Amino acid sequence: MSVRSKTDLAGESQGLPRHEHIEETENLPRHIAVIMDGNGRWAKKRGLPRTAGHSAGADSFRRAARYCQKLGIEYLTVYAFSTENWKRPADEVAGIMSLLEKYLRQALRDLEKERVRICIFGDLSPFAPELQTLCRECMERSAVYTGAQVNICLNYGGRDEIVRAAKRWAADGCPEIDEAGFSGYMWGGHIPDPDLLIRPGGEKRISNFLLWEIAYAELYFSDVLWPDFDEKEFDKAIAAYQHRERRFGDVGKG
Ligand code: FPP
Repeated sequence: MSVRSKTDLAGESQGLPRHEHIEETENLPRHIAVIMDGNGRWAKKRGLPRTAGHSAGADSFRRAARYCQKLGIEYLTVYAFSTENWKRPADEVAGIMSLLEKYLRQALRDLEKERVRICIFGDLSPFAPELQTLCRECMERSAVYTGAQVNICLNYGGRDEIVRAAKRWAADGCPEIDEAGFSGYMWGGHIPDPDLLIRPGGEKRISNFLLWEIAYAELYFSDVLWPDFDEKEFDKAIAAYQHRERRFGDVGKG
């Protein structure tokens, strides 16, 4: 067992006792989901355009993906563009699209080096044809890697996902299914649900993210803006998770 973060204050911000470190080999979340919030405010604080905040957010995402892979987190799911984000100014939407394109092109170049499976959750049909092709190419070519999986939610909405799942189930002739069977109709198919949902940026809401999948996720909110949410902040979030007791509706241990 190694000790990494000596300065963890996560417990304090979450109303929990102060913890010294995260346990690397015990009780790590298998699946972490992140609402990458606070890019705009990060840019504003620096007198930069919002797109500069998203660019820093994209860098933070790359760092997070590498760190989660290093820790042995099997799944990382990030909210990159919601079904509601189309309402933003056209230049901001275009800026996010170009960051996604840049990331996907780089990911294709680094496939062998990074060895991460990339999945996109969301309806890609409103995106530019080239971006759709890039998304599909990334998914197809990275499908051979089974060690770590990064899910990027694009044009994604939690309610939309449930409605689509119900439609697909109906189209299959309404077969007899249970909750696990219905999960198979979600974008992620049968991957495990997130154990930990992190929302940086100070807001305490879910914003239509993974509504079905986070039924029993531990929630971690932080005031740190996403571009500043570095490895140390991940350590704090994971340490807080490791000190929670997950009961799944059962009674506690004592
Ligand atoms: C929310 O912050 C962030 C977004 C809507 C966009 C997230 C996009 C990226 C990080 C870039 C592309 C992603 C990848 C995967 C390469 P906000 O703009 O609402 O922040 P604010 O609340 O401070 O205004």
